[in-house]
Amino acid sequence: MRRAELLEEIVKRRLFYWPSAEIYGGVAGFYDYGPLGLAMRRNIVEKWRRTFVLPYQDVIVEVETPIVMPEPVFKASGHLDHFTDFVVACTKCGRRYRADHLVEEELAKRGVKISTEGMSAEELQRLINEHKIVCPACGGPLGGVERFNLLFKTTIGPYSENAGYLRPETAQGIFVAFPRLAEYVGRRHPFGVAQIGRVARNEISPRGGLIRLREFTQMEIELFFDPQNPKCPYFAEVENLEVPIVPEELVAKGQADPLVLTAREVVERGYANEWMAFFMALAAKFLKELGVPLERQKFLGKLPHERAHYSAKSYDQMVLTERFGWVEVSGHAYRTDYDLSGHGKLSGHEMTLERRLPAPKEVEVVRLYPNPGAVRERYGDKMGEVIKAMKENESVILEAFRSGRQVVVVGPYAVTRDMVFIKSERRKTDLEKFIPHVVEPSFGLDRIFYVLLESAVVEEEGRVYLRLPPDVAPVNVCILPIVKRQDYVEIGRRLVRRLAAAGFSVVYDDEGTIGSRYASCDEIGTPLAVTIDEKTPVDGTVTIRDRDTKRQVRVGIDEVAAFVDMVKRGASFSEAAEALKAAPV
Ligand code: ATP
Ligand code: GLY
Repeated sequence: MRRAELLEEIVKRRLFYWPSAEIYGGVAGFYDYGPLGLAMRRNIVEKWRRTFVLPYQDVIVEVETPIVMPEPVFKASGHLDHFTDFVVACTKCGRRYRADHLVEEELAKRGVKISTEGMSAEELQRLINEHKIVCPACGGPLGGVERFNLLFKTTIGPYSENAGYLRPETAQGIFVAFPRLAEYVGRRHPFGVAQIGRVARNEISPRGGLIRLREFTQMEIELFFDPQNPKCPYFAEVENLEVPIVPEELVAKGQADPLVLTAREVVERGYANEWMAFFMALAAKFLKELGVPLERQKFLGKLPHERAHYSAKSYDQMVLTERFGWVEVSGHAYRTDYDLSGHGKLSGHEMTLERRLPAPKEVEVVRLYPNPGAVRERYGDKMGEVIKAMKENESVILEAFRSGRQVVVVGPYAVTRDMVFIKSERRKTDLEKFIPHVVEPSFGLDRIFYVLLESAVVEEEGRVYLRLPPDVAPVNVCILPIVKRQDYVEIGRRLVRRLAAAGFSVVYDDEGTIGSRYASCDEIGTPLAVTIDEKTPVDGTVTIRDRDTKRQVRVGIDEVAAFVDMVKRGASFSEAAEALKAAPV
């Protein structure tokens, strides 16, 4: 636990994050992020966009949708019925526990190691009874195991009957906007939609700091594709990347160690389709670049009873941490057409795309034609607008009348059955409608943030620092006059402004010994420190110091920005020094 303990000290001292509403005692599952934590989170988000979205922007677009959504969204998505965990209460002190976690922890204390994932209420109850598990806080008897829905409920506006829910995943905002997004991309497929945003889950008893929060940030992509053609056009770019995977068949046999396969082998062995394997390969690379080697990663197949209600196949990307053991940082699900079909049925909107058939075929289509006489009679000179609205909503109106409704409201107009003619026609077409299937990679930013920090802790020759990858470190460079002399201070401050204007995050510090200032920069993972010394006013050079090796070189003050930029983009200290012909110190 050494690293985790050292990290805890740094996090506290440098205010990376802390429990929210602390002055009122805090609430479990909510955390604030300080300036350094926030800067680092932004950098992780940008790296995620650079990995998953920007290179593929011809196919993947980004959106932002609200956190509060109305009830029908979660009725159709299945969350109102299925997004539950099991809770069990102590009948003496009233404390409530997540039943599966309690059973696992209490049995572990007795040396019994079991996985309760996917167990039913009856199975958990049986284990509680059989092992005589009692309340760990007061020793009182436990009540019955019950379902608890994790959605946070609220009301929208001053209408108590207008229920709203905080979204538990960003995904639903994308699904409900599908018709517009499909139009936006010209009904091309495959296409993907990414969203980064806050979500909330009313977790029963959150512990484990940032690992189990009640409000957190997700980075998700919903990738829509034709189930008859699950080919990923970019697959060749990742096919040789390694994916440590425990497929379902091995999970079922109790195997915990992964097979290390290439993404191509994952597909060839039928463990995932190309899109799923594509995102898994990128996810492994993403975590690796963040400092988590493949040996501490695995994609764990989920057995049918362990999967979310919408998933036909799932892998959890797990990372081995010192403090919390294996932690899921991203979930990869094959959601089929579950969500789009659900929203299509409940909303009456068409959630389809079209595929081209190899040869035209004759089909029967049901078409809607306005009855001009009836429309005029009802709406007079608004007739043109009403007919336009009817044409735009043809499928909604047809579906409503088909299911027996007598009136359909489109915008401000009520359309009654007598206002339309419905005709069945035979037509030749080479297009066929289908509801797209979805592959979804879903990342938890807060868990990745923690894992990254813990992986970065280094204790070496009596110093402790964070070896953060330069593209995610909260500060790019520290500017340190060797002593607080007026001319050094002025040069230093000018350099800070220049670097800040070039887009870098900079810390300026002229208090205390240079050694303690280096240590302070290293501790928060700053890759480079620039020192202004007696030579600077004379020849315009400064020293640049490498966080990891403490090696220093001299460069012209005008070259500092280029040096910082090279390191931020992935060059090593030596490569940057060589490229700028920096002189050894
Ligand atoms: P767990 O089994 O740990 O509860 P989950 O299976 O419910 O997680 P998903 O529903 O797959 O998680 O959510 C996608 C991602 O969101 C997870 O991989 C994780 O990184 C993140 N996440 C989920 N729940 C939480 C939480 N309570 N706090 C922080 N991050 C979370
Ligand atoms: N969108 C996947 C999840 O949050 O579970």
